[in-house]
Amino acid sequence: MKISLHIFSTIACALLLAVQAAIAESPREHLSLDANWKFHLGDDWPDALSRMNSGTGSGPASEKFSDNFWREVNLPHDWAVELPFDWAADGSHGFHTLGAKYPTNSIGWYRRTFELPKEDEGKRIWLTFDGVMHDATVWVNGWCVRRHEGGYYPFREDITDVLHYGGKNTIAVRVDATQTEGWFYEGAGIYRHVWLDVTAPVAIAPNGIYVRSEFANNVPKGNPEIKVEVSLLNTTTNAAKATVKCEIISPDGKLLKSFSESEKVTRDSRGVVKLESKLSAPELWSPESPALYKLVTTVSVDGKVVDQVETPFGIRTVAFDPNEGFLLNGKHYELYGTCNHQDHAGVGAAIPDALQEFRVKKLKEFGCNAIRTSHNPPTPELLDVCDRLGMLIMDESRLMGSDSLNMKKWDDQIRRDRNHPSVAIWCIANEQFMVQDTPQAGAVARTMQDYVKQLDPTRPVTYASPEDDVFRGINSVIEVRGWNYHVGPQMDRYHAAHPDQPNVGTEQGSVVSTRGIYENDPKRGYVMAYDIRRQGWTDTAESWWTYFAERPWLSGTFVWTGFDYRGEPTPYWWPCINSHFGILDTCGFPKDVFYYYKSWWTTNTVLHLLPHWNWPGKEGQEIRVDAYSNCKQVELFLNGASLGKQTMKPNSKLTWQVKYAPGTLSAKGYDDAGKVIAETKVETTGDATGIQLAPDRKTINADGEDVSVFTVSAVDANGRTVPVAQNNIHFAIEGAGRIIGVGNGDPSCHEPDLYVPTAPSRNVPVKNWRWEIAGIPRNKSAAPEFANDFDDSGWKTISGGGPTIETTDTSAIYRAHVTLTEADLKGEGAMICFGGCDDDGWYFVNGQYVGESHDWQAQPIFDAKKYLHAGDNVIAVGVYNGVAQGGLNPNVTVQLIGKTEVAPWSRSLFNGLAQVIVQSTEDAGEIKLTATADGLVPAASVLETKPCPQRLFVP
Ligand code: GAL
Repeated sequence: MKISLHIFSTIACALLLAVQAAIAESPREHLSLDANWKFHLGDDWPDALSRMNSGTGSGPASEKFSDNFWREVNLPHDWAVELPFDWAADGSHGFHTLGAKYPTNSIGWYRRTFELPKEDEGKRIWLTFDGVMHDATVWVNGWCVRRHEGGYYPFREDITDVLHYGGKNTIAVRVDATQTEGWFYEGAGIYRHVWLDVTAPVAIAPNGIYVRSEFANNVPKGNPEIKVEVSLLNTTTNAAKATVKCEIISPDGKLLKSFSESEKVTRDSRGVVKLESKLSAPELWSPESPALYKLVTTVSVDGKVVDQVETPFGIRTVAFDPNEGFLLNGKHYELYGTCNHQDHAGVGAAIPDALQEFRVKKLKEFGCNAIRTSHNPPTPELLDVCDRLGMLIMDESRLMGSDSLNMKKWDDQIRRDRNHPSVAIWCIANEQFMVQDTPQAGAVARTMQDYVKQLDPTRPVTYASPEDDVFRGINSVIEVRGWNYHVGPQMDRYHAAHPDQPNVGTEQGSVVSTRGIYENDPKRGYVMAYDIRRQGWTDTAESWWTYFAERPWLSGTFVWTGFDYRGEPTPYWWPCINSHFGILDTCGFPKDVFYYYKSWWTTNTVLHLLPHWNWPGKEGQEIRVDAYSNCKQVELFLNGASLGKQTMKPNSKLTWQVKYAPGTLSAKGYDDAGKVIAETKVETTGDATGIQLAPDRKTINADGEDVSVFTVSAVDANGRTVPVAQNNIHFAIEGAGRIIGVGNGDPSCHEPDLYVPTAPSRNVPVKNWRWEIAGIPRNKSAAPEFANDFDDSGWKTISGGGPTIETTDTSAIYRAHVTLTEADLKGEGAMICFGGCDDDGWYFVNGQYVGESHDWQAQPIFDAKKYLHAGDNVIAVGVYNGVAQGGLNPNVTVQLIGKTEVAPWSRSLFNGLAQVIVQSTEDAGEIKLTATADGLVPAASVLETKPCPQRLFVP
């Protein structure tokens, strides 16, 4: 496989060399297939799924199909976020026009070609999709290699046999997003990464490495044993004696240990080689100190390296104790967790890796130390970020089931994720209301739990149970009792009755609030941001957290949710399209409750006041003012006059009623000794006069993937953010970058998150076909009957369907006229789309050869713009019928493709803020983002993109 140029900066290069001391040349290549796909939305080839023969996919599934005028996309890609909203659409998924009611929006096609060098013949080649929403059919060179159902699980195929070595290969994927799994936004399309892995015939199996550390009694004292299991594949017919060498590299890049074992591996034996070593005085992994070791596994056969894989891992212990709650490295560790769906403003479910990092950092800002991947397995890159930045994970399955399909998915999930130190616990499912109390559900839970113990004896298992004091079905067999809601004495009762079962809060909160809104507005779907509004089944942040804070045996919990997400608009429906549960909105802008959690979940001194202080017309009226703080006392001032000092009870908040007068509302926070340790203020601002742009990172990698997230705000003449500004801002970008999405966190905003290039297209049917049996040259040369001036008036017409050529070994010529105007041909392209030709066809436009087909199931498309002209055009086809009956399918159209246009990017501010996500290209250099709006001073901001080691990718 030829890999595109890697650009190394001097520093990156030096670093790489340092850590690669132990790294040998291995034939393995792990190549990204994310770039350069073609995409088409619409179910225009419904027959493509019928599979009568092997290796001859029809429509876009065929190698010969022309996707010239399809849109170019890079992965990850989510087309749901591109679709408009409709009140009649599925609100729980965010009112996008997707699903059974919108069939043309629910099928998408992706195509990608690549060259494979001749030298790769003899190697094994794997194609891996990390996740496609929702059902995928994959063809490689016309061979249907996979049908995969379900949007959250990875799938992989060995495509070695069907590839062209030393030639062009085509991958086609039909994605059907009609069906859904969740009750929340899920996206549509190839929304996670795609990989091509090239290995030797004897190699480490996919997900074939398991490394774990074990301390005596699970207490992190002394020297842990490092246990490694390596699964090998041998796809040759000869047995091979494989030597597996493991090297452990310390977090600072030093080789600590080297140990090896040998094993005979026969064809497809999936031989598992077990190795062990000990480490002394290891650095323990924790969210506060995420020390990552690396295991380098090298496989050799006959002294030659055949494979090498690097696996980051961490050394730490996890346990759940009935009385002490969650134990990390042997000590109680409160889980300050949040549940999250995979959805961000602008990009939907197609979250670039750098944006995963942005999101994890945002969660850490208020003290969150754990994520529940509700309600599905995460993308692997989220786990990578959590390993690196320090964030624990509750790794959840999509559905329960002990059937073979579900167990295969569970197996894939555990094998894929079990090396990540961030993963602390497995969750078999969420809220299975209808069955959870039954013995059958108990039996299924036991099977799934027992299976975890086989594949991963180091981690406990839970179930996110929506029940209170109930010990039946799943709750009676599950290792760690999970609690979704039901805060109160029932928890104590349950704990007393089942003193040996550990507990964890799997889901609490569901407090609803809209950023920057302080009065409910059901019409617009906004909820006030005081910690007041809860649902029937939930509690305010203060009430549930106070209860948990006093009960360490509950282990802490996962708040519903860290971020707002599309769908599940609660408590208001349309025009609201988002949830309001987040501590952060869909962009990651903090809501006020962020500071409540930060006060009690971090050791930082926090003092925050709400609401904002722009209330013209409310002079003299009482306004509720809350302070979120962990100071011992807080004193509030309006325009310098004290409104009183109040003492803060742990885990609570303070409230004043204040008669509004414009000016400055300020507060001082005091410690035990009465010393001022924090001050804050909110001011009445003037009207917005200008725009500000603030990137979260000023320098990003020039790798075509990295992103910087810009905060856009409106400021008054004194540079203060105007908390009520709603201006519409326009964005332009120059240089080595592109905008990939915009948002503002407004749960009822129906403006586009994405501005995609669109080319209008129109189909002109080619009708009134005439035909005649005739000898034809079975090559490119034209017969006189193909010419424009040939008189076909005496030929037969085609009426109805069915074959026209009745006899075998017979040919015929078909002709039709189509009139086009100059305007028709001014666009970007003109494709002629044929319904099919049984068996072989040679196609001519105005007497000129445009192509041929030799597959009776194919529906050939030709780019014919250069052969067409304004006025009368003649389309002619010579058809040879070899067997049975045949002829031309007269269902033919000219598809006229207009000029591609991209609307300028824009987004309104929501309560002063908006977000623009900017991605690098592969060119190093500057990116300049400009923001303009009527009546405001524009803003510009420049990012640097720097050369970097690129992910290896398929060109
Ligand atoms: C829970 C459920 C979540 C979400 C939440 C809203 O019961 O597990 O997925 O729907 O309610 O409050």
